[in-house]
Amino acid sequence: MTGKTIAVYSLKGGVGKTTLAVNLAWAAASLSSRRTLLWDLDGQAAATYILGHDGAGRKAQAAIRRDLDPAKLIAPTATDRLSLLPADESLRGLDVEFHELDKKKRLAKIAGDLARGYDRILIDCPPGLSDTSEQILRAADLVIVPVIPSPLARRALDAIEEHMGGRKALRVPLLPVFSMVDRRRGLHRATLAKTPDWPVIPMASAYERMTEARAPIGAIAGRKSAPVAAVAALWQAIEKRLATKS
Ligand SMILES: Nc1ncnc2c1ncn2[C@@H]1O[C@H](COP(=O)(O)OP(=O)(O)O)[C@@H](O)[C@H]1O
Ligand SMILES: [Mg+2]
Repeated sequence: MTGKTIAVYSLKGGVGKTTLAVNLAWAAASLSSRRTLLWDLDGQAAATYILGHDGAGRKAQAAIRRDLDPAKLIAPTATDRLSLLPADESLRGLDVEFHELDKKKRLAKIAGDLARGYDRILIDCPPGLSDTSEQILRAADLVIVPVIPSPLARRALDAIEEHMGGRKALRVPLLPVFSMVDRRRGLHRATLAKTPDWPVIPMASAYERMTEARAPIGAIAGRKSAPVAAVAALWQAIEKRLATKS
């Protein structure tokens, strides 16, 4: 059996993609004992940094070009069963690379190869709708979309669905997740009430501390704390979703 690929994606930056990708990868490895790979595809390499690595030494794009085997860049992390395929700034040229390559399934093929060695692959995506994000959407079995509660929250999701609806090859299930939720705010409560079935990740300073500690939430907060419990609950929902689909 090959592994499943889960992308954390949004058109927007700063909505909690990287935080979620790292924490879901931690949950897969630690709570579900999955052989897990965090695949950092954002040239900002924030997930790479949080997981304690300094980047792929400008080799990340060459691996996509297949000038070198992507598996050779994979490194262990401080979390058991969690490995990292690191990013670096060379990935900023990925859109041009994909355009020139003209191979729409390149990333899906690499993901397929990697999935022979891992049960779960979590992809941290760059923001935007680009050749890179289209490649990622083709490679994923499930796409997690963090959404900050606001009257426009639904639209963020609709825009992605609309784009994907026009392209058969991009028909991958989306799972929206409310991110950075502050229940003291009336607007947040009102937005949540409109789609009460969307999972919720609360606003919590513990998540912000991950960047300084260079560790996933599970390594710096207690198992029963609200931030860890929210990640665990979301991860369970994702596992359930994956199980019903295969
Ligand atoms: N649930 C949360 N509560 C509080 N701060 C958060 C939360 N999620 C993310 N952050 C912080 O918000 C900023 C943006 O998050 P990040 O995960 O980097 O977003 P993205 O990858 O979408 O750009 C970071 O400083 C991060 O620490
Ligand atoms: Mg990010």
